[in-house]
Amino acid sequence: MAESAEDFNIVVFDPSDKEHMKRIIEIHTAVLPESFVVGMGPIFMRRFYYSALTRIGFLKSYLAIYKGEIVGMLVTNRMPFSLIRSSLKKYFFTFSWAVFLSILTKPTRLSTLIETARYKPDPLLKQYEDEGKSFEILTIGVVAEHRKLVVNDMKVAHHMLKRVVEEHKAAGFERVTGQIVESNQAALKFYGKYNATYHPSTVRVAAVIMDLPIENVKV
Ligand SMILES: CC(C)(COP(=O)(O)OP(=O)(O)OC[C@H]1O[C@@H](n2cnc3c(N)ncnc32)[C@H](O)[C@@H]1OP(=O)(O)O)[C@@H](O)C(=O)NCCC(=O)NCCS
Repeated sequence: MAESAEDFNIVVFDPSDKEHMKRIIEIHTAVLPESFVVGMGPIFMRRFYYSALTRIGFLKSYLAIYKGEIVGMLVTNRMPFSLIRSSLKKYFFTFSWAVFLSILTKPTRLSTLIETARYKPDPLLKQYEDEGKSFEILTIGVVAEHRKLVVNDMKVAHHMLKRVVEEHKAAGFERVTGQIVESNQAALKFYGKYNATYHPSTVRVAAVIMDLPIENVKV
């Protein structure tokens, strides 16, 4: 399905835009139902994750729009090692309230929270964060029905990747990182097209840490 670029656009996610917020939550939930953030539910995503973490400047997200509909999302993170811990210093009350409401509406979320609290981020991510030249792609997703869409000879996910790389290159970043479970062959193949290297995680079973030199993605 090859389409013209006139119908296609990539915009920066605005947490105060209701349609942006609704779609980023919907797409995240649809494409990665097993992730911690989705496990904590839409209240957590809307009240804390996509709002506070964006406003503090740790997350910057991008949305792909095709014929007026948001069909893809990409979330970047400037704190690959310490995202939640660093944000808690400023947003402890917002975080606690969002968690409280999430658990109140679905008590089984408590186990998701406990599991996440026990999780230790990979030391390689600390090294990347300390060097200050890496950013993480926390989430990338295209709705299934538009995954085959080609605009200007390129699929939606590749357009989003190029857009974020373009911006981060200009800001002096040198590496893209990310954590990928080994079963996610689509993601491994996707970044593999840019010759990403995968280091086995030392803290997560069957997961890898991606090392993608930013110059591998031509913009
Ligand atoms: C990851 C994602 C953004 C990549 O976008 P994409 O448009 O599918 O990327 P591409 O088609 O260029 O590359 C993916 C490759 O994996 C292949 N693939 C897809 N699903 C696969 C599967 N279940 N097993 C093995 N290979 C698979 C595709 O055929 C393609 O290979 P090809 O180009 O040789 O045919 C998209 O697949 C997606 O939205 N996935 C769901 C969310 C997700 O897992 N995000 C990554 C973790 S945050």
